[in-house]
Amino acid sequence: MRCETAALSQAEIGAIARRIDRPIVLVGLMGAGKSTVGRKLATLLQADFIDADEAIEQAAALSVAEIFERFGEAHFRDGERRVIARLIEERHGVIATGGGAFVDPLTRSLILERTIAVYIECDVATLVERTARRDHRPLLRSGDPAEILGRLQQERAPFYAEAPIRVLSGGGHQRDTALQIIEAIDGWL
Ligand code: S3P
Repeated sequence: MRCETAALSQAEIGAIARRIDRPIVLVGLMGAGKSTVGRKLATLLQADFIDADEAIEQAAALSVAEIFERFGEAHFRDGERRVIARLIEERHGVIATGGGAFVDPLTRSLILERTIAVYIECDVATLVERTARRDHRPLLRSGDPAEILGRLQQERAPFYAEAPIRVLSGGGHQRDTALQIIEAIDGWL
């Protein structure tokens, strides 16, 4: 799906950025573009960007796939919750989270209370195409990625719907998605 380009000048973006008093946390399925859009968004807002999965990997000195393999998903979720709490505490500008983070009740309530949560929604076909580019996601290794992503989309949609801001990301440019987020935050603040 192609989205309209938001028309915002740099001065308008700067004015909106000055009103943002909390981290912006991006949630949504694997392949939705949380990290690429997040980087773009941070650049536009002149804020810093951090990827929660990378922070988890640094803290554990293991890859996400290795954490799943050695200790299981529940252990990964515990570490994910702690790391996201720390990143929020450190007041990073834009934080991209792994697709399952917002499904965890404690992580979700923390994000909803202390940050601006933005759900990046994307059609399953695009998610499948984007996630096929790399083979590092443990949840997609156990079967057909299209089936898994379709199921996760259904299961997780009610949780993602709790985010106060929702934008669609598809075939359009990531910059347009980042601009849509800024416009939506402006309307929401
Ligand atoms: C997961 C998404 C991944 C990563 C882990 C689990 C999920 O992050 O946290 O593999 O449960 O959807 P991305 O959404 O950045 O791929």
